[in-house]
Amino acid sequence: MGLHVAKGDITAFETDAIVNAANTSLLGGGGVDGAIHHAAGPELLAECRTLNGCETGQAKITEGYRLPAKHVIHTPGPVWRGGNSGEDGLLASCYRNCLRLAEENGCRTVAFPSISTGVYRFPLDRAAAIAVREIAAFLKTSKVVREVTMVCFDIVTEAAYKAALEKAHAKTE
Ligand code: APR
Repeated sequence: MGLHVAKGDITAFETDAIVNAANTSLLGGGGVDGAIHHAAGPELLAECRTLNGCETGQAKITEGYRLPAKHVIHTPGPVWRGGNSGEDGLLASCYRNCLRLAEENGCRTVAFPSISTGVYRFPLDRAAAIAVREIAAFLKTSKVVREVTMVCFDIVTEAAYKAALEKAHAKTE
C-alpha cells in the first residue's frame, strides 16, 4: 500500500504536496501551521489572504513557494470537544478533501501531518485510525496519487500511526 509513516519535519518533505493543519482563517498560527508558513515565506500568507478562509473539514490548495513541496493543501481539522460534535466525520473529511484536491492538481506524492492531534487535542489513536482508513480507501481507487506519507513530529505520534497502519494491514490479509 502506498501509505508510509515517517518521523520528521514536514517542511523538509519534497513531495508534490504537503498538507497544513490550519485554522479556519488560513492566516497562519503555531504548530505545523507556523512551521509551514515560516518555511514557505511571506508569499504563502499573501496567497492565503485571497482564499477567504476555509471551513473545518474542507481544504484549499496554494503554491509551496520557498518550501521544497510544490503545493500546500490547507485543511482546518476539528477541535476535540469530547467526540459528540461530529469530530470523527470532520477529521475524515479533512483527509478525503485533501486527497481529492491533490488528485485534481496532479499530485502523485502527498505528505500529511497528524491533523488535529496537537493544539486541537483530538485523541491520537482515534485520529490515526481515521487517517489510515481514509488514506487507504482513497489509494485503492486513485489514478493519480501514488504515495502518501504520514509525517510524525515525535516518536509517540509515529508509534500511533505505525500501529494504526499495522492494524489496517492485518485486516486486509
Ligand atoms: N512537521 C510535522 N508535524 C508537525 C510539525 C512539523 N514541522 N510541527 C508540529 N507538528 C505536529 C504536532 O506535533 C502534532 O502532532 O503536527 C501535529 C498537529 O498539531 P498542530 O500543529 O497543533 O495542529 P492541530 O492540532 O491541527 O491544531 C491546529 O494549531 O497551529 C495552530 O493555526 C493552527 O489553529 C490551528 C491549530
